[in-house]
Amino acid sequence: MKYTTAASIATFAGLASARCCQNITVEVDINARNAKFNQSTPATNIEVTNFILNMTQQGQNYTAKVLAGYQNVAGKYKIAATYCEPDSGPAKTVQLLTHGIGFDRSYWDLPYDNYNYSYVSEAVEQYGFSTFSWDRLGIAQSQHGEAVNEIQSQLEIQALRALTYDLRNGTIPGVPYKFDKIVHVGHSYGSEHTYALTSMYPTISDGIALTGFSQNGSFIPYFAFGGNFIEANNVTGLAKYMYPNGYLAAGDVSAVQTNFFAPGAFDPAVLQIAYTTGQPVTVGELLTIGAETASVNHFKGPVLIITGERDLPYCGGNCLAPPTGFTSIPAQALTFFPNTTAKEAVIVPRAGHGLNLEYSHPFTYKTINDYFVSNGVGPKAGTTWKA
Ligand SMILES: *[C@@H]1O[C@H](CO)[C@@H](O)[C@H](O)[C@H]1NC(C)=O
Ligand SMILES: *[C@@H]1O[C@H](CO)[C@@H](O)[C@H](O)[C@H]1NC(C)=O
Ligand SMILES: *[C@@H]1O[C@H](CO)[C@@H](O)[C@H](O)[C@H]1NC(C)=O
Ligand SMILES: *[C@@H]1O[C@H](CO)[C@@H](O)[C@H](O)[C@H]1NC(C)=O
Ligand SMILES: *[C@@H]1O[C@H](CO)[C@@H](O)[C@H](O)[C@H]1NC(C)=O
Ligand SMILES: *[C@@H]1O[C@H](CO)[C@@H](O)[C@H](O)[C@H]1NC(C)=O
Ligand SMILES: *[C@@H]1O[C@H](CO)[C@@H](O)[C@H](O)[C@H]1NC(C)=O
Ligand SMILES: *[C@@H]1O[C@H](CO)[C@@H](O)[C@H](O)[C@H]1NC(C)=O
Ligand SMILES: *[C@@H]1O[C@H](CO)[C@@H](O)[C@H](O)[C@H]1NC(C)=O
Repeated sequence: MKYTTAASIATFAGLASARCCQNITVEVDINARNAKFNQSTPATNIEVTNFILNMTQQGQNYTAKVLAGYQNVAGKYKIAATYCEPDSGPAKTVQLLTHGIGFDRSYWDLPYDNYNYSYVSEAVEQYGFSTFSWDRLGIAQSQHGEAVNEIQSQLEIQALRALTYDLRNGTIPGVPYKFDKIVHVGHSYGSEHTYALTSMYPTISDGIALTGFSQNGSFIPYFAFGGNFIEANNVTGLAKYMYPNGYLAAGDVSAVQTNFFAPGAFDPAVLQIAYTTGQPVTVGELLTIGAETASVNHFKGPVLIITGERDLPYCGGNCLAPPTGFTSIPAQALTFFPNTTAKEAVIVPRAGHGLNLEYSHPFTYKTINDYFVSNGVGPKAGTTWKA
């Protein structure tokens, strides 16, 4: 661990005591090679469960079974996002935050308990970064789409790529800064997108933090069963989003607990918030998760993987029971980054998958932000930035 810069980190703290945020709609013009699936759109909760049972059958690769080919999906899509900067003005480094399944961008900025759980508050007010969080394409306030063949991983990765370029070029409406450095932080499926983005375009990012992540796909079925999924349009709280069939939401509060919260690691009020503000996942997303992280990543910048000890979907509830030769399951994922020397895997003791929502969040936030600072991509990194 590189915590030798603690003194200089302390000088960041206090520089910015408050933050300034704005909600933005960004239009991205994108083109992706999507999969074309011979898969009916589940039209009832019974069909949703049938789909989950099909997808998780052992000894089968269901995605391969229903894969009928590939097709280009192109278009202009509206993305809902929030940009934040310290009161003192924008940082030279912006963190691009991508949430995972079950959430929207509020995952990074929970108002509960006077924003004590807010990752954005820590990154902006304590460290002096700018942040940009977005609702994944297809989810919440971002544009929705067809659930099987449109809203899939590759289309969302292209949206993330477009947002990255916009931040570099100063072309986000209301955010006219050409950031010197852009680091990408993901959670879960958002980490998969971050992994895939930097794998496909290794020079696009200056540093990445993959939270709630590993390369081990063996435990995805735990998550698929744990979610007790039903049609999102059958959930009262999601009615205002008017999701079409094929958008699947957690069936109840216990499903959210199973997938995101470790025993004894959370405030029950936060579990309730995670359920009531929860967002769905599409059939197309679930069918394209696996392929996203399949290839080796030649990214050369700093890589942090940080995952809860009891993470369910990426560690089967025990990250410290890895295959022989590794200290943890997330540590094994570092072998997928042959071209960077700055890489590290951190296990958050006792935490589950929903890192930002558990008691351990201060450790998680400090680890991520300290990692960026000590690897040369802190808020003041670079010298050429101008507003
Ligand atoms: C941004 O939108 C969210 C959700 O609609 C809202 O809670 C928040 O207050 C808005 N923030 C700003 C700065 O307008
Ligand atoms: C699509 O799947 C159905 C069964 O689910 C099968 O009968 C049909 O032949 C498949 N079509 C193609 C083009 O693979
Ligand atoms: C599940 O698989 C069965 C057998 O292949 C198929 O008939 C059915 O249509 C599938 N259902 C869903 C919702 O995927
Ligand atoms: C399953 O099949 C898909 C589509 O061919 C492929 O991308 C994926 O890597 C396969 N998954 C596994 C675990 O082999
Ligand atoms: C933004 O930057 C990318 C790569 O740096 C470039 O390819 C693209 O044309 C730029 N777009 C605009 C609108 O300036
Ligand atoms: C969910 O579906 C069930 C069964 O069809 C129905 O009784 C219930 O009213 C639906 N709830 C909502 C909120 O759509
Ligand atoms: C995933 O982790 C489990 C538990 O350590 C291990 O048995 C399995 O081989 C791992 N899978 C891969 C693909 O590394
Ligand atoms: C990554 O490192 C390998 C050797 O480990 C080297 O062969 C390859 O050219 C490197 N790739 C890039 C993109 O730097
Ligand atoms: C924030 O939450 C953590 C974990 O629950 C707790 O230890 C800490 O005291 C809280 N801080 C404030 C200022 O409430």
